[in-house]
Amino acid sequence: MTLALALGTALAAGPARPGERDEVAVPSSVARGARLFDGTEPLAGTLSGHSAPLPGAATRCIQCHAGPGKSTAAVPGFAPPLDRRQLRETLPRRGGPPVAYERASFCRTLRTGVDPAHVTLPRAMPRFDADEGQCAALWDYLIQAISE
Ligand code: HEC
Repeated sequence: MTLALALGTALAAGPARPGERDEVAVPSSVARGARLFDGTEPLAGTLSGHSAPLPGAATRCIQCHAGPGKSTAAVPGFAPPLDRRQLRETLPRRGGPPVAYERASFCRTLRTGVDPAHVTLPRAMPRFDADEGQCAALWDYLIQAISE
């Protein structure tokens, strides 16, 4: 499939030249982000209002979201696919004013469930205990330029 091919090519090509992208991801960070996204590296998550951690299988991003170059989530149609376009484009989300994500606001959204337009995500989206390295890796993985 074309996107998988594009992903392979993008990874083989290594880091982008400076100026080509707004953020240059370190390849090892992208690889770690992929592991966090599919649950190979676990990430603790809770349902908002609950303190007990959810079982790992329930918090894997890929359970609910398709990632870059992946056409389906385990549960299709439940949550938006997460990729460069979804995160970096200025879009109206959940009835709020149009906004794009930056790395800091992405990390804040993961931890607090409040998006950059100050709209609270639905309860179905877990709140994650992601440290700086983990959310930076997820961000680098999700915004990699695979279709440009
Ligand atoms: C149990 C299902 C579920 C899991 C697991 C899950 N999400 Fe979500 N996520 C959602 C739902 C539902 C939304 C809100 C969709 C909406 O508002 O239309 C959402 C929204 C988001 C958004 C906001 C997207 C936007 O366009 O504003 C981000 C970012 C996000 N999730 C990242 C993640 C990451 C990263 C992980 C894994 C660490 C993850 N999610 C795991 C269900 C989930």
